[in-house]
Amino acid sequence: MKNDLHMETIAVHGGTRRDDAFGAINEPIYMTSNYRIPTDGTPVDWSGIHSNIYQRNRNVNQMVLQDKLCAMTGAEDGAVFASGVAALAAVFTTFLNSGDHAIVSEVCYSATNLLFREYLPKKYNIEVTLLDTADTEAVRAAVRPNTKLIHVEAPGNPTTGISDLDVIAEIAHSVGALMTVDATFAGPVCIFPLRHGADLEIHSMTKYINGHGDSLGGCVLGRTELVDQVKELAMVNYGGILSPFNAWLIARGLATAPLRMKQHSATAQAVAEFLECCPAVRFVWYPGLKSHPQHDWAVKYMNGQYSGMISFDINGDEKVHQRFLKALKLVTHAVSLGDIESLIVYYDRNSDKLPHYPKVYQEGFFRFSVGLENAEDVIADLKQAMEVCGAL
Ligand SMILES: Cc1ncc(COP(=O)(O)O)c(C=O)c1O
Repeated sequence: MKNDLHMETIAVHGGTRRDDAFGAINEPIYMTSNYRIPTDGTPVDWSGIHSNIYQRNRNVNQMVLQDKLCAMTGAEDGAVFASGVAALAAVFTTFLNSGDHAIVSEVCYSATNLLFREYLPKKYNIEVTLLDTADTEAVRAAVRPNTKLIHVEAPGNPTTGISDLDVIAEIAHSVGALMTVDATFAGPVCIFPLRHGADLEIHSMTKYINGHGDSLGGCVLGRTELVDQVKELAMVNYGGILSPFNAWLIARGLATAPLRMKQHSATAQAVAEFLECCPAVRFVWYPGLKSHPQHDWAVKYMNGQYSGMISFDINGDEKVHQRFLKALKLVTHAVSLGDIESLIVYYDRNSDKLPHYPKVYQEGFFRFSVGLENAEDVIADLKQAMEVCGAL
């Protein structure tokens, strides 16, 4: 395919094979656990990742999804897993060995946090420095001779913090370490870590890539030489593969990601601007707001669309916050993000995660995934809930 096509076109056509014997336009779902092995002398890759032998090694729907993701992100190759956490664990366990050191964003998804805080140091003797990767000089100062990996979220979950990707890549590469970026909060459309020195880009496809809240998945994208290592260890030998059906669902969702992200971003921008001016609101962080502490990096690294994730808090005690959640009519109180519908989750002041976040977060806050509803309707829902709970 021409490589100067626009993102919307690539999302529709990238990865499509159309080699179905019956001429089907949509990719068939290859629900097969194994494949016929050639008996005509065709070489077979028994390690499995370059031949179709068994579904845990390679399957057609995985390949279609991987190719579409590569076409959209500029990655040479990709590996897809049963969840975002499986993809993250695949990367960390492939590239970190006992005695290695990793630098990790302190603001990160809870499973990533726990892996680096507890399991990797205690079970596998990995040295870990958790810090705020928005503080580039702190990252530079934390590097050790045995640093092998710097892992960043862009934007960070749940604060939407942004880090200086170009400079962190330069720091990582100066000691021969990899920079890995979890770009789940932006999806493959709003930010391009591979263009800014990241060695591997990781997503929970459960979120914006699939976008419809109906299946879990994760992906690892980057150079073939690195992705092959991830496939050989984690896909084939740990086995957390993506089913053909979920790969098909996620590829279908991915085809509309550029359109969805445009809408998520436009609605979230309007909602964030409403929150910023609302007297009931204690603080709001959204990368598209000038008041966001790393707005300049958001402008540099995002494509003018700042995705659908906002964090904010309203004035009032615990009871006010609970009444606010209860009063919401359109917005659903639920975990996860990137779905078609707006989802909100509250981190109360007792949450054990709060100490790792910037000061303004420490009294509690909402993480808000703005869906595809009309911005005026979402704002009206927030406003009426603020009135009902007494914050406004
Ligand atoms: C930034 C980030 N990475 C990874 C994950 C984990 O993804 P999954 O639930 O698909 O395992 C999440 C889930 O919320 C996330 O927000």
